[in-house]
Amino acid sequence: MGGVNSPVRSFKGVSREYPIFISRAKGSKLYDEDHNEYIDYVCSWGASILGSADPRVVRAVKKAAERGLGFGAATKYEVELAEMIRKHFPSMQLMRFVSSGTEATMSAARVARAFTKREKIIKFDGCYHGHADGFLVRGGSGLATFSIADSAGVSESVASFTLVARYNDLKSVEAAIERSPNEIAAIIVEPVAGNMGVVPPVEGFLKGLRRLADECGALLIFDEVITGFRVSLGGAQALFGVTPDITCLGKVIGGGLNIAAYGGKEEVMKLVSPLGPVYQAGTLSGNPIAVAAGISTLKLLSNSTYNRLEKISRKLEEGFKGASEESGARVLFQRVGSMLGIFFNDKLNAIRNYDEVATCDRKSYSIFFGAMIDRGIYLPPSPFETIFVSTAHSDRDIERTVQAAAESFRSVAKVL
Ligand SMILES: Cc1ncc(COP(=O)(O)O)c(C=O)c1O
Repeated sequence: MGGVNSPVRSFKGVSREYPIFISRAKGSKLYDEDHNEYIDYVCSWGASILGSADPRVVRAVKKAAERGLGFGAATKYEVELAEMIRKHFPSMQLMRFVSSGTEATMSAARVARAFTKREKIIKFDGCYHGHADGFLVRGGSGLATFSIADSAGVSESVASFTLVARYNDLKSVEAAIERSPNEIAAIIVEPVAGNMGVVPPVEGFLKGLRRLADECGALLIFDEVITGFRVSLGGAQALFGVTPDITCLGKVIGGGLNIAAYGGKEEVMKLVSPLGPVYQAGTLSGNPIAVAAGISTLKLLSNSTYNRLEKISRKLEEGFKGASEESGARVLFQRVGSMLGIFFNDKLNAIRNYDEVATCDRKSYSIFFGAMIDRGIYLPPSPFETIFVSTAHSDRDIERTVQAAAESFRSVAKVL
C-alpha cells in the first residue's frame, strides 16, 4: 500500500517519490537493494539501541527459534524479561506484554478509565501514542478547546473523549481539567517528545503534570515507548525523577522485534484480566523470539552504555552545529541523550511545543535529507522524527556524517 507498511517509511514527508528498499543492516550501516551503504540514524525508529543485528542478540534469537516460534502460553522467559524491566522501572509493579506500542497505550488508557471510572484522556499536541482511535486526535486552533480527529475513520464521538493540551504548558492542562472537572481518567505524555522532532520537557513540566493528575484524581501515563531504556536505563522517569502511575514501553525492550509492555501500580494493573475485569489479550503477546531479543538486549545495557551514547551523540550534535553555522543555515538542535532533533528555524531559540515545531521550515529539511541520503547518511524521512544514535556508531561514522552535513547544510543555504 503506497509501497510501505507504515506511512512514515514512504519518503512523502521529504518530497521524494520513492523510499529506498532495505536489503540488510549490520551495526550502524544499512544497505539498500541497489547495494548502497548508509550510516543509519533511524535505528528502526529507536528500537536498535545496539545497532542492527548485534551478534549476541542474533544468537539469542536463533536459540529461541529452535525452541519454538511461539506457544501462545506462558514461559519463564517472559517472567525474566519482566523482572529485568521492573529492576529499572520500579513503578511498573505489575506489567503485561503486548506486541506494539499502539496496544500498550490503548490498553493503558482502558485501564485508567476502568480504575478512575472516568472517560476523558488529556494528551498533548504533537505527541504520538500509536494509532488507536482515541489518540489520533490533535488540538484545534484553541488548544484544550477542540478535539479534532486527525485521521479519516475516527468518529467525532471517540475524538470528543480526548482533550488536547499544549506540550510544556501546564496552564493548557489546567484549562482542559477545568473544562471537564471530575471527568479526566488520565493524562498521557511522552516525557521527552520524540514525535515532533525532539522536544524536552521544560523544568517543572513533568512534576507539574504529576501534581495536576493527583489534584484532579486522574492517572499519569508516561508513554516511554521511545524513551524507555533510551534516555537512561530507567527511562525518562529516572532521568527527571517523576513517577507515573502507568508506563508504556516498546522499541528497545524488543531489541528490534515486536514486543511492548504497559505496567504500573499494582492496585491499577490488577484490574487487567485474568486478575480483574479489564479485558486485554493477544495471540502473539510475549512471543518467545521477541522476548529472547529483549532479554539479550537489556542484558547488554548498563550505565556505561548511556555514557558512551551521550558522548557520541554530543559529538554528532556539536559537529552538526559547527557545520550549520559555517553554512549560514539557521538550524536548532535539541538533544536528550541519543535522541537528537533538527529544526530549521530562523526565528526561535528553542522549540517547546507543536505550535513552535509548526513554524519550522519543512522544505529545508527535505533538501537536507536529500543531500544527506545522496552522501550515504540515512536520516528520518520526516522533519518531525528523531535522529537516533546507537552504540554501534563509531567516531569515524560521526566524522563522515558531519562532513556530509557540512556539504548538505550548504545545499540548504544555497536554495533559500
Ligand atoms: C511514543 C510512542 N508511543 C507509541 C508508539 C506506537 O508504537 P508502535 O508503532 O509499536 O505501535 C510510538 C511509535 O513510534 C511512539 O513513538
